[in-house]
Amino acid sequence: MKEGAKVTLSVIKADVGGFVGHTNVHPELLDTAKERLHNSKEKGQIIDYHVLRCGDDIELIMTHDRGCDSPEIHGLAWDVFVACTEVAKELKLYGAGQDLLKDAFSGNVRGMGPGVAEMEFAERKSEPVLIFMADKTSSGAWNLPLYKMFADPFNTAGLVIDPHMTEGFSFDVLDAKEGASVVLKCPSGIYTLLALIGTTGRYMVSSVRRNSDNEIAAAVSTQKLSLIAGRYVGKDDPVAIVRTQSGLPAVGEVLEAFVFPHLVSGWMRGSHTGPLMPVPFYEASPTRFDGPPRVICAGFQLSDGRLIGPHDMFDDPAFDGARRLANRVSDYMRRHGPFEPHRLPEAEMEYTTMPQVLSALKGRFKKI
Ligand code: F6R
Ligand code: MG
Ligand code: MG
Repeated sequence: MKEGAKVTLSVIKADVGGFVGHTNVHPELLDTAKERLHNSKEKGQIIDYHVLRCGDDIELIMTHDRGCDSPEIHGLAWDVFVACTEVAKELKLYGAGQDLLKDAFSGNVRGMGPGVAEMEFAERKSEPVLIFMADKTSSGAWNLPLYKMFADPFNTAGLVIDPHMTEGFSFDVLDAKEGASVVLKCPSGIYTLLALIGTTGRYMVSSVRRNSDNEIAAAVSTQKLSLIAGRYVGKDDPVAIVRTQSGLPAVGEVLEAFVFPHLVSGWMRGSHTGPLMPVPFYEASPTRFDGPPRVICAGFQLSDGRLIGPHDMFDDPAFDGARRLANRVSDYMRRHGPFEPHRLPEAEMEYTTMPQVLSALKGRFKKI
């Protein structure tokens, strides 16, 4: 790659069939995705790729020079998911094609089901990136850790110590209900930011930039499948890309944000609150009450667009405490059974199948 040339890092994900139930992805689907992306790399369409999975979601990690929202790259991802769906149908895997909400591709996978986190940047002398992938939760799950990484000096020492960071970061926040977004510059905008992003079901941080030079630092997949489909079709199971080091939060500062297994919405039937448990790749198969929600992190060094890695970032006993706490919190939350706040509040249940259950009571309520 030429000096100063820009590389695009695209992470496009979808659940196109679970093995078993909503637990995992069958290896044949991963092989199909790898083969397709291998061919695309041979053709020079993408620079490099890696296929990973978290729970029942396939994540296509790709580097290229086509920029964000490239119809060519999105089309490629769509075709990969369609091919994987064929295999899933053949094996009668669970929910084959679940996240492909439209019949035909129309230029951009946004709004069609798959989740997308993308960023374009000039690769630095050394470019360490972290890719987070979650299962059994939605995009708002990133709000708290992103706040910690980029606005909380008790998490990120660099906000106090590194002169490149003391000017702070700006958060682009999406209002998923209105389809509008607003940028909040921190630290001055911290309180307003928190007033929004504490409402995780509606407001989602979609990207973060460094104030001193507007450099992109983080990008998140923010689609709400339920709003696209108008009914429950699974949680979004979001992904996020975070660039690190040399004037951005260090790898360890970014990961520190996940030591606290905060409560997120998702889990069983996308209808429950539970802790987000950071796990190594091989433990990302949620089975207890279809959960608890998981997050994995793949670390890469980029080298002229080549993805050097992945390193399995949560495969570290330093996260054992977070996992133990997540399991204790799971026990506690589960004991509430169908009661709030373990079960999500009514408004969040709007797009689930619960209204169908309650519709049987129509006409039986008597005014008092
Ligand atoms: C959560 C999830 C699962 C399913 C549950 C019921 O995101 O995918 O918890 O909601 O297994 O699935 P169905 O309704 O397909 O039987
Ligand atoms: Mg599924
Ligand atoms: Mg999933």
